[in-house]
Amino acid sequence: MNITIRRAEPGDYEAVRQIYSGPRAVWGTLQLPFPSAESWRKRLEPADGVFSLLACAENEVIGHLGLHTFPNAPRRRHIGQIGMAVRDDWQGKGAGTALMQAAVDLADKWLNLTRLELEVYTDNEPAIRLYKKFAFTVEGRLARFAFRDGQFVDAYMMARLRV
Ligand SMILES: CC(C)(COP(=O)(O)OP(=O)(O)OC[C@H]1O[C@@H](n2cnc3c(N)ncnc32)[C@H](O)[C@@H]1OP(=O)(O)O)[C@@H](O)C(=O)NCCC(=O)NCCS
Repeated sequence: MNITIRRAEPGDYEAVRQIYSGPRAVWGTLQLPFPSAESWRKRLEPADGVFSLLACAENEVIGHLGLHTFPNAPRRRHIGQIGMAVRDDWQGKGAGTALMQAAVDLADKWLNLTRLELEVYTDNEPAIRLYKKFAFTVEGRLARFAFRDGQFVDAYMMARLRV
């Protein structure tokens, strides 16, 4: 599978909205069902310290990863926070790995970030496996982290420290 990575542009909002409207994507993230195109258009506008990456295959946008950094917070300048989703019909085909590899390269080799962090629901096995593959470790459990489909769900705080 030939998967390429590029920076998201504001005009990609419809494709990104579609990624986050899939039931699996909603289940694994903090998105609500029925995402609005306008809110995604605003979220993809260039913002200081935000790197929105897209995975593309067969001329389609199939995955999104947001890397949020803190260039204006001197004591948090070494940190990146990650959120991601692959379109439901493309999961398990390598797009998540390609996105995470691009984010880690950006963080390690260009932004000099030494701590990448994220939260993941404790029952999200594919995501936890992906993160462990990139040397993220579990730092703690966040009880009742979010409400999902009628019940509270716990999350792990995971981080990857570059030594
Ligand atoms: C989690 C997610 C981003 C992973 O992306 P992906 O493109 O499906 O992942 P990949 O195909 O690159 O696989 C990465 C690893 O995940 C694991 N994995 C993938 N699909 C899996 C499945 N169905 N069951 C168990 N593990 C799975 C494997 O360990 C795999 O690595 P390997 O093939 O080298 O063993 C994607 O499944 C997704 O978007 N899920 C819904 C939204 C979500 O949960 N986002 C994360 C929020 S924290």
